[in-house]
Amino acid sequence: MTRIPLIAGNWKMYKTGTQAVAAAKQLAHLSKGVDGVDIMIAPTTLSLPLVAAALGKSSPIRLGAQNIYPGTEGAFTGEVSGPMIKDAGADYVIIGHSERRQYFGETDESVRLKIRSALDAGLIPVMCIGETESQRDADETFFILDKQITDGLKGFDLGDLDTLILAYEPVWAIGTGKTAGPEQVKEVHGFLRHLLKEKYAEGLAATIRILYGGSVKPGNIKDLMQLEDVDGALVGGASLNPEDFNEIIRF
Ligand code: G3P
Repeated sequence: MTRIPLIAGNWKMYKTGTQAVAAAKQLAHLSKGVDGVDIMIAPTTLSLPLVAAALGKSSPIRLGAQNIYPGTEGAFTGEVSGPMIKDAGADYVIIGHSERRQYFGETDESVRLKIRSALDAGLIPVMCIGETESQRDADETFFILDKQITDGLKGFDLGDLDTLILAYEPVWAIGTGKTAGPEQVKEVHGFLRHLLKEKYAEGLAATIRILYGGSVKPGNIKDLMQLEDVDGALVGGASLNPEDFNEIIRF
């Protein structure tokens, strides 16, 4: 089963609108001619329409949001809905990132509601899962990942999940320079593929893209992309530098 790789850049809370537009334009120039890989960048919500306008609809670089409110509109100060994200020019939305789970009370239940809202708005959900260092040290990795998927995808049927993308991001590898080793990545991605086959269907398990995230750099992307069941990367720090991100895209 061939799955088109996706290389996504999570810009987190970096770059003003002007800086985001400049970086996106530089990346568009550097990545000319790249083929056979889907490319996504997720600037701050504030920058989404600016970057979308700068890149234009014909650009192969697609946009993502970093969060979504589970609802369409209303008196929810500071929140942004799926239709607004779509209208701003994004195709994807990152949901359940460990930083939102750690700092903003994101739960498997809020992840579930946000995935529903993303699908209703015609957005591609990138569902982040991953264990903390203490959970790995306590041999709870597979239990945690199973729970995050089971609770985060509760009530969805096969038809809902054909666009879903999973991003395995071991929390202890995010922003630490510590990338999970090839055996660890292979083991977890294989576990996730098997879990989806057991819980849903062989077809979905075979087609869903499972990204790895956690200190992905130009120096380790090639090895990561050679691993079975790794269908791309969700890149943080290295995606902020267009030259580094272009190297990663060209793995
Ligand atoms: O969402 C991707 C991000 O959490 C990974 O960050 O800086 O370790 O690549 P980084």
